[in-house]
Amino acid sequence: MTIAIDCQNLTKTYDSDGQKVMALTGVNLAIHQAELMMLVGPSGCGKTTLISIIAGILDQDEGHCWIYGQDVNKLASRDRLKFRAQNIGFVFQAYNLLPALNAAENVAVPLIINGMKRSQAERKAVELLAQVGLAERYRSLPAQLSGGQQQRVAIARALVHEPRLIVCDEPTSALDHQNGQLIMQLLKQVALQNNRALIIVTHDARIFSFADRIAHMDDGRITDIEATVLKHPD
Ligand SMILES: Nc1ncnc2c1ncn2[C@@H]1O[C@H](COP(=O)(O)OP(=O)(O)OP(=O)(O)O)[C@@H](O)[C@H]1O
Ligand SMILES: [Mg+2]
Repeated sequence: MTIAIDCQNLTKTYDSDGQKVMALTGVNLAIHQAELMMLVGPSGCGKTTLISIIAGILDQDEGHCWIYGQDVNKLASRDRLKFRAQNIGFVFQAYNLLPALNAAENVAVPLIINGMKRSQAERKAVELLAQVGLAERYRSLPAQLSGGQQQRVAIARALVHEPRLIVCDEPTSALDHQNGQLIMQLLKQVALQNNRALIIVTHDARIFSFADRIAHMDDGRITDIEATVLKHPD
């Protein structure tokens, strides 16, 4: 199997009011193409830090991370933004929707950044919103949507430009069982196309069975990687 993401010896320390917080202490992790890797572990163990480095949002202190062969850290900042915009979709733990834009406009942002005409981008955004069960709400502002609806807008925004790598931080935390299953089926369907890769941070045991492998993290390192036996029937 071909490797999509290759992290080697990643370390990261934060400076919190003069105190050093070791968030990653030497993480090695390889994710294959067409693979759904879940990342689990206690609060504060470094999950968001790790996926932020993988997605090129945060710089590591040491180590390397190759995304489809590209060491994102080595790119100049403009090329890096372009690489991220074209290749990575990210669902933030706190959604991070733009409050002044409605749902369709939020979802259209990655397409517009990649050069698509606004009218076409918004048409595509509305189609994707329908796939996450929000066909009727595309004109709503984030503040007019429930937490679970905002979460689905954030997921649509991460998928709309068909990135090769999709990274989700707790994508089902605000969803009921039915919507959680719908989102997982959609994510899996999209991620398995064209040798993409999908990383999902989660505490949600209801979705573990969708994973190909589950990486356990504790205290800034990967402690175990488990291949799931139980495959979801879909
Ligand atoms: N910007 C920051 N400044 C200082 N410390 C930080 C910062 N971000 C994270 N940390 C610390 O780094 C460690 C790892 O944080 P991280 O957010 O990666 O954890 P997590 O596994 O995603 O937790 P959760 O499940 O609660 O989201 C924690 O001890 C946290 O307090
Ligand atoms: Mg987190």
